[in-house]
Amino acid sequence: MKVTSFLRFAGFGIKTILFRKKDPILGTVIVTDRCNLKCRHCSVNNITAVMHPYAQIMGEMKTLYDMGVRILFFCGGETFLWRDGEKTIRDLVREAKQMGFLIVNVVTNGTFPIDLPEADLILLSLDGDRERHNAVRGDTYDTIMENIKNATSDNICFYMAINQINKDAVADVCRLARDTANVRAVSFNFHTPYPDTRELALSKEEKRECCEVIKQMMKEKVPVFNLKSAFPYLIENRFPTPCHQCVVIENGKISVCGRCIDVPGLCEECGYFFVAEYTLLFKGNPKIICEMLRTYLKYI
Ligand SMILES: C[S@@+](CC[C@H](N)C(=O)[O-])C[C@H]1O[C@@H](n2cnc3c(N)ncnc32)[C@H](O)[C@@H]1O
Ligand code: SF4
Ligand code: SF4
Repeated sequence: MKVTSFLRFAGFGIKTILFRKKDPILGTVIVTDRCNLKCRHCSVNNITAVMHPYAQIMGEMKTLYDMGVRILFFCGGETFLWRDGEKTIRDLVREAKQMGFLIVNVVTNGTFPIDLPEADLILLSLDGDRERHNAVRGDTYDTIMENIKNATSDNICFYMAINQINKDAVADVCRLARDTANVRAVSFNFHTPYPDTRELALSKEEKRECCEVIKQMMKEKVPVFNLKSAFPYLIENRFPTPCHQCVVIENGKISVCGRCIDVPGLCEECGYFFVAEYTLLFKGNPKIICEMLRTYLKYI
């Protein structure tokens, strides 16, 4: 990360903590909800299947920028499916950088060739070893591994949503992240139980066991892009929600925190690690602040 970016984030953090401000810093643009997969745990694919036009997405990026957002995520649906004429997700990343976003990340299912060196991180969803990943995501594991091998940059971070199907495959994904070329780290979430996927949710005890495995992996030098100081809060779901410093925009509609904000009761069962990490950070939790500084400077 550039020194100027670091100073900007540090200034934002100090102001937010001291004056209890609610201005956003992290924004997500949903470029389409169309997807080539239909994963077992996912409730947000192919609801409209609309590809949002380039001009609309540029407008949404500008809106977020003007609100103060400087960390931008592109998400879907499948981001690598997004097209408008000749434009692809790579053009959106380049435009975002040019607009002045300091960190630009893309979330993908990894089933398309990966040529996105301009992104700071490509969060590539991997949901276990071959057997369990394919049980969640269809027969895609081998294609993804081939795409990672042929990727044109080493900015990939595995992104695993831990649920009832893959909860015993956390260590497999960790070791693969450590041992695979082009992969820089791994980041986790617990399943967030939308009404149609409640059966995949983990109990507190299961979450605790997963966190123990992740901590052990950290000791074994696995590059984990999460904060272990947030684990006790994630296990017990006792972090503040929603995250006011995060916003998402989908087809012109802005939501605080996530597009899931409208699902009744979901925030009390939220499994997204970034929500715990950011809300605790901006509450001024000293352990989280120190660990966040170390982790972000290492991986971005
Ligand atoms: C909705 S997908 C969109 C991007 C891309 N299609 C992909 O799969 O990475 C973004 C991330 O959300 C995760 N996800 C989907 N449903 C979830 C849920 N109910 N709880 C936690 N994570 C979830 C996916 O596993 C994926 O890592
Ligand atoms: S690839 Fe992503 S958007 Fe598509 S179904 Fe799976 S989790 Fe949902
Ligand atoms: S806190 Fe609520 S809105 Fe935010 S990600 Fe979790 S469930 Fe979604």
